[in-house]
Formats: sequence, structure tokens, C-alpha cells
Amino acid sequence: MSFPFQIKSLQEYNTAYAKSVENPEQFWADIADTFMWRKKWDKVLEWDFKKPDIKWFINGKLNITENCLDRHLARSGDDPAIIWEPNSKDEPHKVLTYNDLHFRVNQFANVLRNNGVKKGDRICIYMGMVPELPIAMLACARIGAIHSVIFGGFSAQSIADRLQDANAEFIITCDGAYRGGKDIALKNIIDDALIACAFVKRVIVFNRTHTPVSMIKGRDVWWDEEIQIVEEQGNPVMPAEEMDAEDPLFILYTSGSTGKPKGVVHSSAGYMVYSTYSFVNVFQYQPGDVHFCTADIGWITGHTYIIYSVLCAGGTSLMYEGLPAWPDAGRLWDIVDKHKVNILYTAPTAIRSLMAYGLEPLKGKSLDTLRVLGTVGEPINEEAWHWYDEHIGKKRCPIVDTWWQTETGGIMISNLAGVTPSKPSYATLPLPGIQPVLVDEQGKVIEGNDVSGNLCIRFPWPSVIRTTYGDHERCRLNYFATYHDLYFTGDGCYRDSQGQYRITGRVDDVLNVSGHRIGTAEVENAINRHTGVLESAVVGYPHDLKGQGIYAYVILGHSPEDANYMRADINQTVTRIIGAIARPDKIQFVSGLPKTRSGKIMRRILRKIAENEMGSIGDTTTLLDPAVVEEIKAGRV
Ligand code: WT7
Repeated sequence: MSFPFQIKSLQEYNTAYAKSVENPEQFWADIADTFMWRKKWDKVLEWDFKKPDIKWFINGKLNITENCLDRHLARSGDDPAIIWEPNSKDEPHKVLTYNDLHFRVNQFANVLRNNGVKKGDRICIYMGMVPELPIAMLACARIGAIHSVIFGGFSAQSIADRLQDANAEFIITCDGAYRGGKDIALKNIIDDALIACAFVKRVIVFNRTHTPVSMIKGRDVWWDEEIQIVEEQGNPVMPAEEMDAEDPLFILYTSGSTGKPKGVVHSSAGYMVYSTYSFVNVFQYQPGDVHFCTADIGWITGHTYIIYSVLCAGGTSLMYEGLPAWPDAGRLWDIVDKHKVNILYTAPTAIRSLMAYGLEPLKGKSLDTLRVLGTVGEPINEEAWHWYDEHIGKKRCPIVDTWWQTETGGIMISNLAGVTPSKPSYATLPLPGIQPVLVDEQGKVIEGNDVSGNLCIRFPWPSVIRTTYGDHERCRLNYFATYHDLYFTGDGCYRDSQGQYRITGRVDDVLNVSGHRIGTAEVENAINRHTGVLESAVVGYPHDLKGQGIYAYVILGHSPEDANYMRADINQTVTRIIGAIARPDKIQFVSGLPKTRSGKIMRRILRKIAENEMGSIGDTTTLLDPAVVEEIKAGRV
């Protein structure tokens, strides 16, 4: 495919950006025109951020899978769509061509239909990184069912919360998942979740690891046996369901500053158009490129840049099942060489952890097919940026530092590889169509350069969040109510003297641990469920590998016999309730927390102590009990 909307020079970027601001409707209509529609839209955009009510490509009809699959078949049916590299080096990799993927998505769409799934039904997908995961997602999209993928690291309790929130009656899972040297018993975790979710009608289980599972009569079926039935039916073609532009494509849960994760809802058309536009431009995708995004499909990065955008562009997406440093720290570089990867997209935390092994794992790796490198998920420190540039890109690959969020659907602020300038630790410039503004605490827009503020977006873009599932008011309060007529990102940001943007981190109570978003309130709620705990307060602190670590201050009912046992028990509780990703790195037992006279915990003070910035704690005289600060300082772990 060729992309008339691909920007090829700084001048073209400036022209496209200006057009996107002056005439956004025409700008996006021209891009949307390059996709496959059952029926074109009547009107490009209607919006009101106050409600919020945002609609793109009104009355347009389409199915995203016809754009990801069908439209490539005639010309590129034999091109690889997905290359899958398994966890173990001893197991052969697999290549699914566009023809193969189209066939298998159709087949599994039939399985879903045979099992009673209808348009609009919510389907929870809890699988490892196997090709059947994108097949399952695309099969949902094929028939208009709304998938909600849950990352394999979440606990049974987290799954149950999400199933209930989305009222999902169908689940697709695996018996187990390979992750490095471990097998994770996914189906058993689902079974624990389902104790609290009797409304679930069907669980389809893909056999990956031969982990023993209990298959419940009338509820659980095997993927392979269901495929067998479709084969006996003669593999009927599954016509793609005609979707309205604004019909939801998927729900993806993410953490916020409250204790309860929210289901971010993305639309069918706007998400398709923006994700593909951003992919082709940021990575400067060229036909034939092999694109390797190391993210897990359980996060938005995997949804957008392993599946939907790459397939819409007719590209080749490499997905792998393993871990970056297993069986050794050369794993990613072996994969790059084996599959002649051209674009590598990973997270700063992965780069830092691989840096720690030194240069030995790079010996004998060529890496010379690489053309573009990318990072996402957290601010990249300059040391990691330079290591990536020097040792992986060999100083000949532009690095794109891509800032975006689950809620934005696609990359919002980033340099375009080799086209617009890059600057270490800067996301740099907004993509066409994206209008960033910085505001102060009072919501006043900060004009000019060399300024810092809270990052907001002033105008809708096609893949902006439409609602939070089942609770529209929550969407309004979270993103559209803080500042008048603006989408608020939750991030702090600096705009330098040349107008380039540098993301400085979250300004709300959300942590970014190894590029994963975790709400402090969620972790506190989990800790507080432990019988021995009276109260807790959780903050982030700088962590060499993870970016941020989790620091928990905990008040116990009685002093523990063995503090380390108690810490292990609290960690176990958090693992049970949220998942191992939310386990505190440090737990300090305290007798009280610094509170104002009105009872509000002064997190600023707790953050300073966790960061070991005791000198800048500031005034504590307004506290109910200033003495507690000295005790906490002295007991820092
Ligand atoms: C938060 C969104 C978007 C996919 C991965 C995370 C932080 C993301 C960058 C970057 C600095 C970044 C922000 C953002 N973030 N990319 N390039 N530079 N910070 O998605 O879980 O929705 O988290 O990740 O704080 O708000 P997410």
C-alpha cells in the first residue's frame, strides 16, 4: 500500500499541521477517504467537550477487519501479516500471511457465532502472547462484539471486577501462558474469578501449555474442538458486520486516581483512522518493513501498534511471547536479526534493564536491518536514550519518543522518524491534528515558550476516548471537567524555547511502574484489606530500572512479631487483589501519617521522604502532629 498522507519532510509536516488546525474536518476527511467504507460519512465531526460528546465520521459504516484484512488480499494475500516468535528458542516461529489470518479470523468468528455471541456483546480476552490472541480480537471485531483484553499479570479479583463492570458473558483464555522460565496457569485464574461471576455463559479455552484445567460442563469449551465444528460446517464465510463509525470497537481498563480502574471505550472508525495515520507517519513505515513492538497486547500499545494500525497499513507485525532478558539478555537482538526487523518499538524500562547487562549480550548481533527505533510508556532518561542510539541504532536510526495514553488511542506527541528533529528526553512536537496546551493550576492557558504546566489538548482528534464503560459521568469528571473545554491528560509538561514538548510525569496520584499505570488508591485499598492493617498511604519514588517504584507507608493494628513476614503477607495480599505488578517495592511501618487538621494525608511530604529529599520537605507546622514526620524520616527503608 502507498500512503498519500505520509509526511516526508519538515516542510510537509508544517503544512499538514497548519491544515489540520485551520480545517480539521477537511484534513481528516482526506485521510479517512483512503480507507475502505461500506458507506461514507455525512459529516466529519460533531463535538462538545463539556458533556463530553464527540462523534467522528457521522453515519459512516465500516468494519475495521475489512480494512485490516480483506482489502489487502487481492494484492498482498501472501505477504506476512503476523510473525510470531515463541517463548522458547527451540520452538519454531510461525508466519501468518494475510490470507491465513483472514481465514483464521473468519473461522473463529464462526466459533463465536456458534457460541451465541452477538453484536455489542462484551468479550473478555485473557490470553498469553500467542497468535490466537490477535485472531480472537479480530474475530470479535468481525462480528461487532466488543473485546476487553485483560493483561495476563492481573489477578482473579481484578478480572472479576472488570467482568462485572463490563457485564461480559464470554471469555476467551488459554490453559496457560509461557513467560520466560514460568508457566502461568491462566485458566485457573479465570476459574477463581468466575466464582464471583455466575453470569458468564461461555469460556473458550485455547490449549497452549497443557496445564491441567477443570473444564466445566455447559460453560467451558476447547478452542480446537470448536474450530473442528466450524470445519465440519464447511468453514462458512463470515460476512463482516456493518458497524457504525461510532460503534465501540473495544474496552480497555486502565488505572486512574480513584480506587477503581475504568473501562476506556474506543470507537470503530476514529480509532482506525488515527491509529493508522500515526503509525505510518511516526515510524515512517515503508511497504515490506517488519515492525517489532515488544509490548504485551494486554496494554494499549499492543492493541494499536501490534495489531490494528500495522494491519490496516498492510504491514508485517512481529509479536513475541517471551521476556526481553530470557533466556538471556540478547533475546530481543536475536529476534531482530532472525526476522530482519526494520522498526523496533519498546519501553525505556526494557532498555534500562538490558543496559544493566553491559555490551556482552550484543556481541555477534548485527542489528543492521534496523532503520527506526521507538520508545513509549514513560519519560526516557538521557543515559538510556544514548545507549539505545549508540548500541542498538548504531547512530544511524532515528529514535521516536512517543507520548500518548490508553485514552488517546494513538501517539499524540512525537518526532516523525528522520523527518522532524529529535531531542533526547523530549517527545518533541504534536502530530498533525493534535493541539496541546499547557495550563496552570487555575486553568489559565500558559502561552509562549520555555514554560511548564499541566498538559491538555484543546481540540478533538479521531481516536479520543468516547466514554468510560457504563459510567459516562466518570469520563467527564476524569478528563473533561478539570479545565474548561479541554481534555486533561494528567501529565505535567515543559515546552522549551523552540516549542518542543518534554513530558515530566503524572501530576495526579497515578504511578508509572515499568511503563504500567497503577493508581496509588488501588494499591492502598488492597493493602488496607489485610487484617493487620489500619491505614496506608502509597507514593512513588525514583527506581533505576522501573522508572518509579512503589513505596507504602503502613499503620498496623499491633506491632508485628516479625516485620519481614508482615511485609511478605501484605505483598501477597496486593498480589491477590491486583496482581504482582502492583506489589510495593518498599513497605515502611509507621505509627501515624502526616495529616492536615482536616484529616487530609500530606502526600507531598511522604513523596519527599520516599525520594530521600528530606531537605525540601518544607513547612510542617500546619500538620495535626508534626512529630510524626521526624519518626517517618528516621524509619525510612
Ligand atoms: C501515561 C499513559 C501509551 C502507551 C503506554 C502507556 C506516560 C507514555 C510517554 C512518553 C513520557 C509517557 C504518561 C502518560 N507516558 N508515553 N513517551 N514520555 N511519559 O499507556 O498506561 O495509558 O499510560 O504514560 O504519563 O500519561 P498508559
